[in-house]
Amino acid sequence: MVHQNRLLAGATLTLLVASGYAQTFTRLGTCGDRLGCCFPPDQADFLAGQFFDIRLEVHAPQNGSQARPGEPDENFTFTIEKVGGEPARAATDYFGVEEPKLERWNFTWYEDLFAQDAKTPSLVEVAAKAYRKVALYEPGEYVATLKYYNGEETKSTWTVRDIDEARKTKNIILFIGDGMTTNMITAARLIAHKSVNGKYQSKMAMDKFPMLGHQMTHSIDSFITDSANSATALYTGHKSTVNALSVYADSSKDPFDDPKVETIVELFNRLYGGHIGIVSTAFIADATPAALTAHTRDRDLYPQIVDTFLNGITNYTWVNWTGPDVLFGGGGEQFYNSSKGGKTYEDKDYYEEFRKHDYQVVLNNEELASAKNEKRTLGIFTTSNMAKWLDRNVYQDNLNLTKDPSGDGKAATDQPGLKEMTLKALDILTARSAEDGAGWFMMSEAASIDKMMHVLDYDRALGELLELDDTIKAVVDRLNATDQLKETLVLVTADHGHGFDVMGSVDTKYLQEQKDDRRKRAAVGTYQKSGLSQYTLTGNLTYTEGVHFPSNWDPRYTLFQGVSADPDRHENYQVRKDGPRSPAVNLTKNTKTPEGYYANPKDERGGFLVNGTLPVEDSQGVHSLTDVPVFAMGPCQELFGGVYSSIDVFFGMAECLGLSRKTKPPKG
Ligand SMILES: *[C@@H]1O[C@H](CO)[C@@H](O)[C@H](O)[C@H]1NC(C)=O
Ligand SMILES: *[C@@H]1O[C@H](CO)[C@@H](O)[C@H](O)[C@H]1NC(C)=O
Ligand SMILES: *[C@@H]1O[C@H](CO)[C@@H](O)[C@H](O)[C@H]1NC(C)=O
Ligand SMILES: *[C@@H]1O[C@H](CO)[C@@H](O)[C@H](O)[C@H]1NC(C)=O
Ligand SMILES: *[C@@H]1O[C@H](CO)[C@@H](O)[C@H](O)[C@H]1NC(C)=O
Ligand SMILES: *[C@@H]1O[C@H](CO)[C@@H](O)[C@H](O)[C@H]1NC(C)=O
Ligand SMILES: *[C@@H]1O[C@H](CO)[C@@H](O)[C@H](O)[C@H]1NC(C)=O
Ligand SMILES: *[C@@H]1O[C@H](CO)[C@@H](O)[C@H](O)[C@H]1NC(C)=O
Ligand SMILES: *[C@@H]1O[C@H](CO)[C@@H](O)[C@H](O)[C@H]1NC(C)=O
Ligand SMILES: *[C@@H]1O[C@H](CO)[C@@H](O)[C@H](O)[C@H]1NC(C)=O
Ligand SMILES: *[C@@H]1O[C@H](CO)[C@@H](O)[C@H](O)[C@H]1NC(C)=O
Ligand SMILES: [Zn+2]
Repeated sequence: MVHQNRLLAGATLTLLVASGYAQTFTRLGTCGDRLGCCFPPDQADFLAGQFFDIRLEVHAPQNGSQARPGEPDENFTFTIEKVGGEPARAATDYFGVEEPKLERWNFTWYEDLFAQDAKTPSLVEVAAKAYRKVALYEPGEYVATLKYYNGEETKSTWTVRDIDEARKTKNIILFIGDGMTTNMITAARLIAHKSVNGKYQSKMAMDKFPMLGHQMTHSIDSFITDSANSATALYTGHKSTVNALSVYADSSKDPFDDPKVETIVELFNRLYGGHIGIVSTAFIADATPAALTAHTRDRDLYPQIVDTFLNGITNYTWVNWTGPDVLFGGGGEQFYNSSKGGKTYEDKDYYEEFRKHDYQVVLNNEELASAKNEKRTLGIFTTSNMAKWLDRNVYQDNLNLTKDPSGDGKAATDQPGLKEMTLKALDILTARSAEDGAGWFMMSEAASIDKMMHVLDYDRALGELLELDDTIKAVVDRLNATDQLKETLVLVTADHGHGFDVMGSVDTKYLQEQKDDRRKRAAVGTYQKSGLSQYTLTGNLTYTEGVHFPSNWDPRYTLFQGVSADPDRHENYQVRKDGPRSPAVNLTKNTKTPEGYYANPKDERGGFLVNGTLPVEDSQGVHSLTDVPVFAMGPCQELFGGVYSSIDVFFGMAECLGLSRKTKPPKG
């Protein structure tokens, strides 16, 4: 035992020394210091019968700390063995596929920040193969072995989970509060719900869910995640890399050849003809909606992403995709083409493409409300991200800052909110599913919780969160009214957090009247001096019952709130009445100020200067490490209690929808 511990300690030490270089940048995520890389990698979990690709790469670093000059081994072998089953077999034999063709490419990477400063990248030559669209059916453990360079091995242990095939729910609605943390929910509750003597008199809609879990958002090769790889984990059950949508990230230049994994909606659509709804307050090609149908290393390839909503993956033999019944969000500039300044795939007019596929197209709230529930519907309501709840409901003049989705340059003054979009999506999915009984899956995203936290516009972020909660309440009520509550799993979760919290209150009148920055900070009230929330009071200090949004967004005593990683900025702790905040700007454009972002002079508004901690190239706040909550109600709610990995949300949904297939179907 002692001996083994010493060995382990020795092994750990070697690993630490050997991989000390690879933190800021890595040669290729999950490969570590091995020269043979396999995706899916060690510790991958699979749903039985789910399609995936395998990518194998053998690296020959030509220089740098791991140099192995010469050609990469083109004669590598790859075998699969089911633990406790037959001996290892060649993957071609195991999956019954042809030997894939050999590919060769080179890439470069920086080993650390010094190498980047010195502009000395390390060059790696690669030999690679990809097995496309395979699946594992029998539950259990598998060992996938890549052999290369005459005796070196990369072994990956894969687990096919033993999940019952029976379907337990007819429908699922997955709400994603992008970037939403427990701290934000707590702050939203404080500004929208009355408390008396320390006790809230009402609860948030999500507070009423019977089951609560926490998911760990850790990415496959970094501990901080972005919305692309976190969405990949939630929708496919496979962890991935920052910027990757439902693929593992390989080292090739082509952003479309990375190994793909079938998503929850592709599975549900393939196995049951399930109806799909995709709703977001972001531009619809943004990562959280995109990862449902797109499979690419690069989340910024919006034109192709929009094409996948309609056509699925057209470049590969993949799964038959019927297209969503509902696609609602912003991002008109990814639908109208260059004739109006947009950017689309092959410059086609995507409103027209959707119409050709028998979609009705709606471009404002009025058209949305009167659209037929029996027809597949595309609804795009603005260019870029949609207007925020606060601007649609309180500071409506700011709608002048928005642009119409048609590309005609007018303001988009008649935009629906998350609630209007989600309820209409529900009506359409309900009507269309009634025709064939196939059931539906909807993802509804409150995207601008995240977007407004990024720009440190805490009030707008909390407004978006309260709108999400209001939407959840309305959806639960309608599911109840249409007798679907018992057959619908309702989930509310997030994809990652921001380091936001509330630490006290601020007397904004006192802050404004102090002359210097250090005095202004005396306006902050902590502990006992934090007092009570003034957001729920009207002018005569009575509470507005039942609305569950603040009755006053601009009280004298506001929240002392903020995030833990910022650019330089000013803080006056008051709501920005003239539209979303822009805390830091590039001053180099107009002055001789040295490079980087500085506190925006226009955002000063009597506040004090706070210098940031982020690199000066960052104009916005960033994501943080925190676990995020999962609220569950309905069939299978018991699968979502406790603390688990983000991928378990996929496995829970897949189990509930009955997507596991433990027997290989006969050929043909
Ligand atoms: C790979 O195998 C082929 C045929 O077996 C052989 O000709 C070739 O030299 C090998 N290449 C390497 C790099 O070992
Ligand atoms: C890769 O780099 C080598 C030099 O190490 C060069 O000879 C070769 O042409 C490059 N191959 C590709 C595919 O770019
Ligand atoms: C590695 O080789 C490439 C291509 O010759 C060169 O540009 C680069 O500076 C080299 N890097 C190091 C770390 O020596
Ligand atoms: C298909 O792949 C090619 C080559 O990688 C790429 O240029 C093209 O944009 C892809 N098309 C779509 C619709 O994704
Ligand atoms: C996809 O659908 C087409 C037409 O309905 C059919 O011919 C084809 O076999 C299907 N492919 C798969 C992989 O199911
Ligand atoms: C671009 O959009 C315009 C307006 O819808 C349309 O007339 C034109 O055919 C489109 N161009 C292409 C290349 O499809
Ligand atoms: C917004 O636009 C409308 C119509 O163009 C105009 O009447 C109004 O004054 C504008 N408001 C602001 C704040 O610019
Ligand atoms: C569903 O509606 C019934 C009847 O109006 C009501 O008693 C029940 O509380 C509702 N359930 C939920 C979860 O809202
Ligand atoms: C005071 O509160 C009541 C509701 O309780 C409301 O009807 C009235 O308009 C309020 N008065 C003022 C001045 O805000
Ligand atoms: C700031 O603006 C200058 C001048 O336009 C530009 O060269 C620089 O790259 C910008 N810096 C950042 C961090 O965006
Ligand atoms: C603090 O921020 C101000 C305004 O952005 C800037 O002028 C100053 O250089 C910053 N100081 C440091 C130490 O970064
Ligand atoms: Zn996100």
